[in-house]
Amino acid sequence: MSSIRIGYVGCGFMAQGVHLPNLATMAECEVLALAELRPDLGRRVQARFGIPRLYPDHQAMLADADLDAIAVSAAFGVQGQIARDALLAGKDVFMEKPMAISLEQADAILEAERASGRRLMVGYMKRYDAGNELVKETVDAWRASGEQGAITYARNHGFGGNWTAGLDAPMDTTDEPMPEAPVVGPAWLPPEYLSAYIGYLQQYTHNINLLRWLLGAGDDVRLRSVDLDEDGYGGVVVFDMGGVRAVLETGRISHYRWDEHTQVYFRDGWVHTWAPPLLLRQVPAEVEIYHASDRQTMARTIPQPVWSWAYRREMEHFVASLKSGEPFRSTAQDTRTDVRLFEEIYRVWLGQRGVL
Ligand SMILES: NC(=O)c1ccc[n+]([C@@H]2O[C@H](COP(=O)([O-])OP(=O)(O)OC[C@H]3O[C@@H](n4cnc5c(N)ncnc54)[C@H](O)[C@@H]3O)[C@@H](O)[C@H]2O)c1
Repeated sequence: MSSIRIGYVGCGFMAQGVHLPNLATMAECEVLALAELRPDLGRRVQARFGIPRLYPDHQAMLADADLDAIAVSAAFGVQGQIARDALLAGKDVFMEKPMAISLEQADAILEAERASGRRLMVGYMKRYDAGNELVKETVDAWRASGEQGAITYARNHGFGGNWTAGLDAPMDTTDEPMPEAPVVGPAWLPPEYLSAYIGYLQQYTHNINLLRWLLGAGDDVRLRSVDLDEDGYGGVVVFDMGGVRAVLETGRISHYRWDEHTQVYFRDGWVHTWAPPLLLRQVPAEVEIYHASDRQTMARTIPQPVWSWAYRREMEHFVASLKSGEPFRSTAQDTRTDVRLFEEIYRVWLGQRGVL
């Protein structure tokens, strides 16, 4: 493949603010088509980005044989179905997280991937952050060499704050009504808990996905305990991730920046990282590497590339993997584990409350 020809579905906030500007400035690909249910918005975004073709919905676009791949950022309740349709139409797919909000949906998408022989990458941009890459490299190296002793503990703290960081990307808006986007949760979840479940999952699917990756745990993850507040959002969840105790701390704070950090402990040191506000372009996570014991050094190693944006590197990875055939770093199969864990957490929490 010379240049990857991409069809983009949904031109809302993430498309205009993040993915279309990134794709439009990548030499390795071309956005050949756009599909948007709101025609006036579609026309305006098409014109601004100079996208040759516009389709009224994703099904119409999927018949376009000139497209090599599809990228999707639509409402979370429907984008999994769009991705599934695209796979079944023979296209490779990039989609925003979450892939699914129930295991049933996740498995239907995985089945479409198997049946079609096409591939789906899920937008977990934290795995493409240069700072998080440095953390993973260091953790992997210490585990392989044993130089810092055994790995003992990991934690991710995510209280949020302002994730948009004053993003100043031009943004077309419209008076056209937002299309219907039904949200179907897991069959066992009482409907009155659906919005709390979605709120928790939408935010923390990133954090669980990141922790699993840093610890190389894959699907080897077990829930140890759940201690959530009345709102089903704030609290502490403890996992066993590949034999390591890993803690997720969740909650809210009205912070002007972004309160998220992750720390992996070894007997003789730690690797600690602070996430940037997500939409702050060109700023990777900060990293601190502490060697304890006889050495006693604390380094603020600068990730490389020094100025880089996780979302851009994520899309570059998608296009490069399509060209090379190399596996994606954030696959559909891998994120099934995140979906499973959210179902398990809420089952335990609702069980504690006597709801289930
Ligand atoms: N990775 C991240 O950090 C991150 C951050 C924010 C949002 N997201 C995810 O991105 C997704 C999109 O969020 P957003 O804020 O851009 O939403 P949005 O509502 O601003 O935009 C979605 C667009 O998709 C269009 N659409 C819906 N169904 C469609 C269909 N069948 N065909 C064509 N167009 C369709 C809508 O008209 C709308 O314009 C969500 O699923 C969300 O979970 C990810």
